[in-house]
Amino acid sequence: MASELEPDRLRPLLRGGFGEPYLYFTEVGSTQDVLREGEHPHGAVALAEHQTDGRGRSGRRWEDEEATNLLFSVLLLPPAGAALPELSLVAGLAVASALEREAMVPALVKWPNDVLVDGGKVAGILLEASGSRVVCGIGINVNQDSGDLPPTPRFPATSLRVAAGHPFDRAPVLVAVLAELEGRYTQWLDGGMAGLADDLERRNALQGRRVLLGDGRSGAADAIAPDGRLTVVLDDGTTTLVGSGEVDLQA
Ligand code: BTN
Repeated sequence: MASELEPDRLRPLLRGGFGEPYLYFTEVGSTQDVLREGEHPHGAVALAEHQTDGRGRSGRRWEDEEATNLLFSVLLLPPAGAALPELSLVAGLAVASALEREAMVPALVKWPNDVLVDGGKVAGILLEASGSRVVCGIGINVNQDSGDLPPTPRFPATSLRVAAGHPFDRAPVLVAVLAELEGRYTQWLDGGMAGLADDLERRNALQGRRVLLGDGRSGAADAIAPDGRLTVVLDDGTTTLVGSGEVDLQA
């Protein structure tokens, strides 16, 4: 059966410049590797129905069920000197906003770049940079039933289908995410994080939650700072800004 994501169906739906070119694979090792090298323009997209070597952050694997989710990478070519770590939040915000609008379910950003719906992880983002070339990989759980979600030891997973109670045509979801990513990226290029700050504050899933930092310290997460770092009020009463690494929610 033809997939709704095949180029003939998808290309006419695209709005804006992201998705040109649109490189579609029924199976590939990782869409990240498709864009890592070669002569691709800013906004090029590689998408696969199935990845045999899907990557998550911190060396984890990203498992998928064929033709069920969205697995794609977008090539970003920011200007020299741009604050690349901020792109995590730009992408997280774009995915959360697009999913909320398409699926009509409230979506939050779990700093730095997971997207949560109903407290479960619905999407993950992996940014891989070499020089000023950034490959932004996005995995969105779309149509899995609750019994088919991957076991995730660090955090419960969910899908749009589980959250909304019905399956989705993946094409409009992809189109919405690409359009939103292009819009947020342009906003960030023009005005940095300042233009995204209000929306980020509204979607900050960690605000007020107990968190465990990668170095073993714990505390209460507070706002996302203007430079994109997470403010944490530690248990000893001091405040720290976390710039990178994993932050786990504590029970
Ligand atoms: C994470 O939450 O750990 C990030 C997951 C990123 C998964 C996507 S799927 C498309 C792209 N290709 C990959 O190999 N990984 C990213």
